[in-house]
Amino acid sequence: NYYAILMAGGVGSRFWPVSTESFPKQFHDMLGTGDTLIQKTFQRLNKLIPTENIFILTNEKYNDLVLQQLPDVKPEQVVLEPAMRNTAPCILYASLKIQKENPDAVMIVAPSDHWIEDEAAFTQNVQQAFQFCEQNDALMTLGIKPTFPNTGYGYIECGNASAENISNVIQFREKPDYDIAKQFLAQGNFLWNAGIFMWSATAVIKAFKTNQPELFEHFYKGIETYNTSAEEEFIEENYAKAENISVDYAIMESSKNVFVIPATFDWNDLGTWGSLYDKLDKDSSQNAIVNAKTLTQDATGNMIRTTKDKVVVVDGLKDYIIVDKDEVLLIFPKEKEQDIKKVLQSVKTKF
Ligand code: GDD
Ligand code: MG
Repeated sequence: NYYAILMAGGVGSRFWPVSTESFPKQFHDMLGTGDTLIQKTFQRLNKLIPTENIFILTNEKYNDLVLQQLPDVKPEQVVLEPAMRNTAPCILYASLKIQKENPDAVMIVAPSDHWIEDEAAFTQNVQQAFQFCEQNDALMTLGIKPTFPNTGYGYIECGNASAENISNVIQFREKPDYDIAKQFLAQGNFLWNAGIFMWSATAVIKAFKTNQPELFEHFYKGIETYNTSAEEEFIEENYAKAENISVDYAIMESSKNVFVIPATFDWNDLGTWGSLYDKLDKDSSQNAIVNAKTLTQDATGNMIRTTKDKVVVVDGLKDYIIVDKDEVLLIFPKEKEQDIKKVLQSVKTKF
């Protein structure tokens, strides 16, 4: 009864110029390991979940990339979105499809672009959550010990922990502003939301019905067509009309039955060049280098990535991102990495 929903529809614009709208980061080998991020994620989930029960949710335009990179996946396991509407619509839609196939389904919903090295610990945490979800009407998340007031994450206020280390959640707050995030950290009983969810199909559908009745109706009215030949027409007609909202705002913030397991593995959501830098091996001057043949002098803390075997000489540069891809070269201070998204917009308007 175990299923997985793999979310692979984001664009990863802060990883420009490697990640682009036509070839987003989850389809790149960002870590230089030989596998792309989505391949790594698939292998990780496949330890616990049979291949045919892993569904990949992505935009129509990435269908070919998914099928190329995951050759064991059948076309009907790729759930295609005609428009980008963030994570709530695609999760609700896929959950309805899965529940129609198997009313007892218990599932994990996971991003396709995270770094998790300790697969055994990950599997153990998920297994434990699955057992809890089989017994309870619960929305479960994995919590990460926060290290600084990051405003790009969801925060989870933990209540009392059970013997199995599962805590009820007092409050789930998506992307608080800096002052509130700081206050949460000071309070001590908050975790970051890893963005990895576990629940039964019944529990998540109920949560949508209660908290997002309009969105629920929007997709439930097509239930007769799901997993049949009439589905595509219904989705083409209706998907883009769904509200653009993330699952965190749609159901996690307002539900009372949220539970968290503190993750026992190291986690990184590989959201920016800086977070990738943190996870890569460094040379003796703390430069992280992918693909390049590099000669450095008086250069420290740089994140360097080029097309394969390009010779790069860096002198007198500290804490920079240096990324080369096809017709683009980016040289950008690491501390301003969040601005790459904006820069990309300017580039698009200008050139
Ligand atoms: N299929 C599909 N369709 N996937 C999508 C879409 C979409 O329209 N939009 C985003 N995704 C995918 C992204 O590729 C990513 O893997 C995942 O869904 C989460 O989306 P993000 O856009 O990266 O979310 P976030 O980083 O702002 O916040 C979430 O993740 C944080 C941890 O990384 C939240 O869950 C936070 O609470 C959490 O802390
Ligand atoms: Mg993210």
